[in-house]
Amino acid sequence: MTERLILGQLLAFEGDPRALGPGAARHDTFGAVLVRDGLIARVGDAASLRADHPGVPVTDHGDDLILPGFIDAHVHYPQTAMIASWGKRLIDWLNTYTFPEEARFHDPDYATDIAGRYLDLVTSNGTTTVASYCTIHPTSVDAFFAAAQAKRMRVLAGKTCMDRNAPDDLRDTAQSAYDDSRALLRKWHGVDRLGYVITPRFSPTSTPEQLSALGALWAEHPDCLMQTHLSEQLDEIAWVRDLYPNARDYLDTYEAHGLLGSRGVYGHAIHLEPRETTRLAEVGAALVHCPTSNTFIGSGLFDMGLANTISVGLATDTGGGSSFSMLRTMAAAYEVAQLRGHAVHPSELIWRATGGSAQALHLEDKIGRLAPGFEADLCILNLASTPAISQRHARASDIWEAVFPTIMMGDDRAVTQTYVAGVPVKTGR
Ligand code: GUN
Ligand code: ZN
Repeated sequence: MTERLILGQLLAFEGDPRALGPGAARHDTFGAVLVRDGLIARVGDAASLRADHPGVPVTDHGDDLILPGFIDAHVHYPQTAMIASWGKRLIDWLNTYTFPEEARFHDPDYATDIAGRYLDLVTSNGTTTVASYCTIHPTSVDAFFAAAQAKRMRVLAGKTCMDRNAPDDLRDTAQSAYDDSRALLRKWHGVDRLGYVITPRFSPTSTPEQLSALGALWAEHPDCLMQTHLSEQLDEIAWVRDLYPNARDYLDTYEAHGLLGSRGVYGHAIHLEPRETTRLAEVGAALVHCPTSNTFIGSGLFDMGLANTISVGLATDTGGGSSFSMLRTMAAAYEVAQLRGHAVHPSELIWRATGGSAQALHLEDKIGRLAPGFEADLCILNLASTPAISQRHARASDIWEAVFPTIMMGDDRAVTQTYVAGVPVKTGR
């Protein structure tokens, strides 16, 4: 048995997440998390946990804030090396920057190199779980899962499927997408902390036959998640209308092929029709808000009000998103909501980056909460990590005011440590 007591300030979300606001979390100025064999065994105040567990090794983070590790609900790890590519909108951006980079992942050594680099970057930003698209190459999935497995991380990922409107070297077929996805699912799903996600990229790069094949695979493996993109840019939506003339709307291109369900996770979802919103809520599907991507590629302003009826996770969408940091992503979510006339409370920003993303990914019984029985993936934040943040933090009158400058201005310098399954992993320290 391995035990460790981790001390610091604590914010533990306990109540109904729909009632987010100042009272949504318990704050302990001198808190403690007891980790036992990779799981959280107890959460409470430092003095009582120390008294109850004498002799257990202690790591004291002082005034730093202990949160669940961040959960990034939509990323493309193969886009790590081309993040922040200038001047294009979605379809042009895919053709100019994304597809040439993704073509490199037929090389297993390159895939392994980028997978390792990507996971180091995210853990140094306090992120402990991601749901990633890979490329069409099965090697890209193997490389990613192997790298995450070596780090004992809980990750979700799948082979991106495309059988049209992509370069020759980035196309599979309906049959090979089914066969390769099935083989990868059987190889990796449920192994250690890994989960396979059926991953059609989006309707424009799949024929109806490919969508149907992946819909059939999902029906055969209903415990898997299915991830894809939905209604990100207006040009894209017009293209979908041309490609699928019989579809009622964008969502219907998925629905008609067995790709709408409660374990469906739909990225972006900015320009939804009323029918789409209603159907997503009816089936209990999840949306993922990718605010730095939506501003960077010029896609639009996501409506956080959708979270009243639909589960909404938060994500960087690396490398359409312009950051690996979920702090930066929370800041962008705040700014986008402001542009729509709504100020999101810091408790909701933190919850969306932890428990909310866990819920969207159907992992809410395993990660995203500081509570007994949950996996001990933790992010430790210094709330005064730079001179600019520190001077504002000094004026704070409560924990929400204390954490908000770090949400708005913080980056990986604020993350003093990241624990994966109870083990500190932050590199470069
Ligand atoms: N739509 C289809 N593929 C992608 C992608 O890689 N990134 C983003 N942001 N949108 C997409
Ligand atoms: Zn994406």
